[in-house]
Amino acid sequence: MNIAVVGTGYVGLVTGVGLSEIGHNVICIDTDEKKVTRMKLGESPIYEPGLDELMTKNIKEGRLQFTTNHAEAFEAAHAIYIAVGTPENADGTANLTYINQVVEQIATYVKKDIVVVTKSTVPVGTNHSIKEKLNALLPTETKAEVVSNPEFLREGSAVYDIFNGDRIVIGADSKEAAALIREINEPFGIPIYETDICSAEMIKYASNAFLATKISFINEIANVCEKVGADVEQVAVGMGLDSRVGTQFLKAGIGYGGSCFPKDTKALKKIAENVDYDFGLLSAVIEFNNKQQRKLLDQAVADFGSLEGKSIGVLGLAFKPNTDDIREAASLTIIPELLRMGAHVKAYDPIAIENMKKVLPTEIQYTGSAVEAIEDTDLVLILTEWDEFKSLSLEIFVKKMKSSFIYDGRNCFSLEAVQEYDINYYSIGRKM
Ligand code: UGA
Repeated sequence: MNIAVVGTGYVGLVTGVGLSEIGHNVICIDTDEKKVTRMKLGESPIYEPGLDELMTKNIKEGRLQFTTNHAEAFEAAHAIYIAVGTPENADGTANLTYINQVVEQIATYVKKDIVVVTKSTVPVGTNHSIKEKLNALLPTETKAEVVSNPEFLREGSAVYDIFNGDRIVIGADSKEAAALIREINEPFGIPIYETDICSAEMIKYASNAFLATKISFINEIANVCEKVGADVEQVAVGMGLDSRVGTQFLKAGIGYGGSCFPKDTKALKKIAENVDYDFGLLSAVIEFNNKQQRKLLDQAVADFGSLEGKSIGVLGLAFKPNTDDIREAASLTIIPELLRMGAHVKAYDPIAIENMKKVLPTEIQYTGSAVEAIEDTDLVLILTEWDEFKSLSLEIFVKKMKSSFIYDGRNCFSLEAVQEYDINYYSIGRKM
């Protein structure tokens, strides 16, 4: 099958590469010439483990191409995938500017019947309006069908996820279009669930909102655990053993971040608001997460009073491990506040430093290693659970820090290990 994918962010690129790997001829389109030149050489513009190798392989085998030319890409396509961003507007709604641009490009360059597949996360009803717009713009003898096919990839494990997902959702109101997209996806060997278009759009938001709720729930339990002397990790295991609860997404910490949960929870709240429904539970999840991201700050103020002149080491800037993405990361909430309070901040992350430098170029002292970041500090904050941090010996902290205050926002160390040292250790939902 010939497939055109518009947009080469992490959704579009991973989708394009995945579809080529299962045997389709894929052409990915992006307006950024420099990016396209790099991708043609098999270089991924995003950090995603395993992606470069897979790109190179499929380019070599002739199934994967990149272009800036829409006409060329659309010419032989059986399906056009829309995978452009839907960033957050100031009021929390999804911004559909890029989606609308692609709709116009399709209308301009497509000369035959076409199936358009929306991968981007879009508010419920968007696919129906895409279809209406397209059919109004296309010549009368040409017909466009639209299919909602949300993505469930996680940054950092997107390559694994595309071949090992739990389900592929196909939302369509045309049997022929649904059958085509089913045929395209069948080689993945992942269960396919067909729905109507609006339900598929909602599945995406509801899934992310539910996972965010699960995280906020376990974080609230963690906060209560701290007060009553229970251990949230034991509680999470005990809860997860009930298959109705499940073990995943019960890891307590300093809240969720990234480009999806914060944006999609706010967008779903807005979707509900627009139909006069007050999604109170989701509002609480969002508000609570904002508070949870500040938890280590509150602890620091409680322990130290003033942070003026204190030297603070920050381990981890990315919103989670295995990504250089800092969007909505706890580090972006915590570090500016530490600076405002007059602290001196040293920070290390295995790969996200360059992205943080774009936000705070000179205010932070960036270090080349975790050990340098903790050296001579009064307090160390662990904000991302990189393996590199988990495997640090606690002795290093004791030896290198001025005073051994470690606040571990991701529960990287076992309490047994910590107890062997004279450390003021604070973690989430666990009592020393
Ligand atoms: C999330 C979803 O997991 C994907 O299914 C979805 O496709 C994607 O959003 C999207 O909409 O594009 P992602 O944002 O890459 O993926 O990251 P996750 O691994 O889900 O983690 C999100 C945040 O939750 C991170 O900050 C992580 O630290 C936090 N988290 C996750 C917890 O605090 N506890 C957990 O138990 C799990």
